[in-house]
Amino acid sequence: MTSTVDAPTHSPARALVCRGCGAEFPLAAQHACFECFGPLEVAYHQAALALVTRADIESGPQNIWRYAGLLPAGQDAATRVTLDPGLTPLISAPALAAAVGLDAPLWVKDDSANPTHSFKDRVVSVALTAARGLGFTRFACASTGNLANSVAAHAARAGAPSVVFIPSDLEPGKIVTTAVYGGELVAIDGSYDDVNRLCGELVETDEFEDTAFVNVNVRPFYAEGSKTLGFEVAEQLGWRIPAQVVIPMASGELLTKIDKAFSELVEIGLVEAPAEGWKVFGAQSAGCNPIAVALHKGTDQIVPVKPTGIAKSLNIGDPAAGVYAIEAVQRTGGWMDYADDDEIREGIQLLARTTGVFAETAGGVTVAVLKKLLASGKLDPARETVVFNTGEGLKTLDAVADQVGPSHRIKPSLRGARDAGLLG
Ligand SMILES: Cc1ncc(COP(=O)(O)O)c(C=O)c1O
Ligand SMILES: [Zn+2]
Repeated sequence: MTSTVDAPTHSPARALVCRGCGAEFPLAAQHACFECFGPLEVAYHQAALALVTRADIESGPQNIWRYAGLLPAGQDAATRVTLDPGLTPLISAPALAAAVGLDAPLWVKDDSANPTHSFKDRVVSVALTAARGLGFTRFACASTGNLANSVAAHAARAGAPSVVFIPSDLEPGKIVTTAVYGGELVAIDGSYDDVNRLCGELVETDEFEDTAFVNVNVRPFYAEGSKTLGFEVAEQLGWRIPAQVVIPMASGELLTKIDKAFSELVEIGLVEAPAEGWKVFGAQSAGCNPIAVALHKGTDQIVPVKPTGIAKSLNIGDPAAGVYAIEAVQRTGGWMDYADDDEIREGIQLLARTTGVFAETAGGVTVAVLKKLLASGKLDPARETVVFNTGEGLKTLDAVADQVGPSHRIKPSLRGARDAGLLG
C-alpha cells in the first residue's frame, strides 16, 4: 500500500490580528483595527503550519508557491493571480565581501530576477490571489514605482482591469514599465504619501467597491508575500538562517516580514534557530530616513519627512510599518543606517563591479549601508551576511548614466585601436 500526502488545499490562515492591541478580526479586506486603528496582520493555525515539511516544499513549484502551505492564499493553483515569481538567485559575493571588509561569506539575494524585476511580484501575487478569493474584480495600488509595474502586469496576465496610482515625478523607467501593460495609470502631482492618502479615500467610495488596492484594503495579505524572501534564503542556504541580513526600507514592511519568516521557520521546526540568533539591519536613503533617524534617537516615535533624493522607490515619508521595523531591529540586536545620493551611486557601481548584478537605487542604498555598518562596527565582519537587492538597475538608469560610459571611442580600424592603447 502506498500513501501519498496531497499539497494542502486550505489556507492555514486563521484571522487578522491587530499589531497594536491584539484584537482579532475575520479574514477579510480590512487593514486597520476597529478598536485602536493599528495595522492588521495575518495570524495562522500553528498546527496547520506545522504540517508543512521540507520535502513538501522541495517538491513544490520553482516559485513562491512552493511555500503555499505557509501563506494565507493560493493553496489551490487554479485560484492564483500570479506571474509565478520567486526562487531568485542567491549569489555568493566574495569580491564584494573583500571590498567592504567582511571576512565571512556574503550573499546577494537578487530579486531583480523576478518577472517585473523587483520583489514586489511576491507581495502582489499573494495580495491579488487573496483579493480574487474575497470577490474583488479590479486591482489597484498606490506605488513608488515597482508595485505599479507588478500590479499592472499581474492584472494583464489575469485579464482583469487595473488602476494604479503613482507620484507624477517617478523615473521614466518606472512609468513606461507600468504603462506598457495597459490598464489605467494615474500620475498624481504629489508625493507618494499624498498618493497613498488619496487611495485610502478612494477605497471607501462606492465606485471603488469592487477594487482591491494591494497595499491598502488587502494590505495584510500583501505583506505576507514578503515572507517568501526569508523562506527562500533559508532554503537556499541549506535550511539555515544567516547571522546578519541587510534590507532596504520604505514602509519598513519587507524588513519585518523577512524577520517573521525566519521566526516561523524556527517555530514550526523547519529550521534550527542559530545559536546566536540572527540580526536584522535596515537601510534607508539620507533623503528619506525617518525610521533610521528614530532608531538613532532611541525612540519609536517616527517623525514623517518630505522625501528627496534619487532612491525614489524607497521614498515613503510616513512609513506604515516603521515602528515594527524598529522593534525587529532592536529585538535582534541589529541596527539601521542611511546613505546619501553619491553613496547610493557608488553602491550601485560597487555591486555591479563585484557581482555582475545591476541594481536599482534601492540596491545601491543597501550596499552603501552594508559598507557603513561594517565601517561603524555595527555589523560583525566575521559573521555570514545576506544583502537583499530588491530591484533592477535598468529601471533607474539615470542614477548612474552620468558616471559610466564607454572607456574608449575609436575609429573602426587597427590604427584606431592602437592609438587608443588597446594593442599595447
Ligand atoms: C525596490 C524596492 N525595495 C524595497 C522596497 C521597500 O519595501 P517596504 O515598503 O516593504 O519597506 C520597495 C518599496 O517600494 C522597493 O520598490
Ligand atoms: Zn488594535
